[in-house]
Amino acid sequence: MEKIIEENKQGTSLALEQNKANAKKLFIESYGCQMNFSDSEVVASILANQGYNTTQNLEEADLVLVNTCSIRDKAEQTVRKRLEAFNAVKKINPTMKVGVLGCMAERLKSKFLEEEKIVDMVVGPDAYKDIPNLLQEIDEGRDAINVILSKDETYGDISPVRLNSNGVTAFVTITRGCDNMCTFCVVPFTRGRERSREPQSIMQEVQDLWEKGFKEVTLLGQNVDSYLWYGGGLKKDFVKATEMQKATAVDFAQLLEMCAVNFPKMRFRFSTSNPQDMHEEVLHVIAKYHNVCKYIHLPVQSGSTRILKEMNRQHTREEYMELVDKIRRIIPDCSISQDIITGFPTETEEDHKDTLTLMEYAQYDFGFMFAYSERPGTLAARKMADDIPDEVKKRRLQEVIDLQQAMALKRTQRFVGQTVEVLIEKESKKSDLHWSGRNSQNTTVVFPKEGYKAGDYVLVHVTDCTTTTLIGEAVGYSEMQS
Ligand code: SAH
Ligand code: F3S
Repeated sequence: MEKIIEENKQGTSLALEQNKANAKKLFIESYGCQMNFSDSEVVASILANQGYNTTQNLEEADLVLVNTCSIRDKAEQTVRKRLEAFNAVKKINPTMKVGVLGCMAERLKSKFLEEEKIVDMVVGPDAYKDIPNLLQEIDEGRDAINVILSKDETYGDISPVRLNSNGVTAFVTITRGCDNMCTFCVVPFTRGRERSREPQSIMQEVQDLWEKGFKEVTLLGQNVDSYLWYGGGLKKDFVKATEMQKATAVDFAQLLEMCAVNFPKMRFRFSTSNPQDMHEEVLHVIAKYHNVCKYIHLPVQSGSTRILKEMNRQHTREEYMELVDKIRRIIPDCSISQDIITGFPTETEEDHKDTLTLMEYAQYDFGFMFAYSERPGTLAARKMADDIPDEVKKRRLQEVIDLQQAMALKRTQRFVGQTVEVLIEKESKKSDLHWSGRNSQNTTVVFPKEGYKAGDYVLVHVTDCTTTTLIGEAVGYSEMQS
């Protein structure tokens, strides 16, 4: 099923534009969440100023960087295997430098330099601006490591180099870090405290994308709904802000509205929403503006109030259901997706059934589902035994996936017979005679190319579907086409 994220995604990245004056070659590979892929674009930009162009050919690389994920154990194992592969190449090309970036770098710190002899450099998510100095330190034979987490780094002043881009859709980071401390999650430890990026620098990045011909921006954060700009600093320090700062603060609903109003022909998406922070104003902004897509990724993790409490999620099953009701009432044609974890410590069959019934209540369009993986250092790892046997976690996971698949088919089928607005992103994977794009609700739509091109907004009459894909024919441009 396409919409279920694999344990970790992988991408060896090539820049949209290369600088002809740059002679050195950077091979950069990213794993994990969209934020990592977005961070790699910041890193590629920093290195473009140091004379590096990207390459997809490992053998010719001067510098190999792997942007890593720690969210589940399997993600870390994948990276370790990749490091072994890099090691084999390094034996042939000893001048090649290897650096580990991202969450695994932050989690394991200097252990990487000690245990993994092939790693030359370790850089945490807030230290990418230090990479030029760290490369110098490698040349001087010193350990190159910077895993300092920052209170205010948002990379707002860096214009990312778009990697593996279709030239139509892009990600723009609006918050970094997370203060939520869900007990299963390693992110607050690896990405530090939550901070928001200055609205002007966000608008500037969107403007640059618009001028380059991009048509869709996804605003990214671990928890976008808690976006709050009040002049800099950590989210948790807002209580200490001056009256003036409080009066002029910008929250997520306001930021989203600024985007929608200033760029009326650009589509906006956002990810991820946390149920405890999602306010009604945001829903009204989504409903009000045609160019804000009608899709909310709303992780629930579990349908059992008891388990939610153990996870330190700040809402009950009933409160989540009320939020779903509110979304359906304010944005009737909205798609909703979930993240669910099966086999969290102490989860009973009863708790699991609560998850299944909540799923049926919410009628999710898409889902990202995982078996619980204990992460060292998290509160759950320290306080709770990982007591659900693997086969039980996996069986529950399969039940959740099966239900999601059945619901997804029904949800996709609702569009058959309708005409939907699609932004054309790329050629269909299965046929070079077809375009592929998404409707506002995030469902993939494929249709014959005819005279249209990537970046066009078209109306597509839907005639058929699979579980995750709509099939149809274009009937003309939409009102979004300028
Ligand atoms: N708020 C974040 C969540 C990041 S983690 C965001 O931007 O999406 C993504 C998902 O991974 C979580 O929602 C959760 O469902 C899953 N996850 C996190 N820690 C996990 C763990 N220890 N075991 C299994 N799944 C986990
Ligand atoms: Fe992790 Fe919970 Fe934050 S899942 S990223 S601690 S909202």
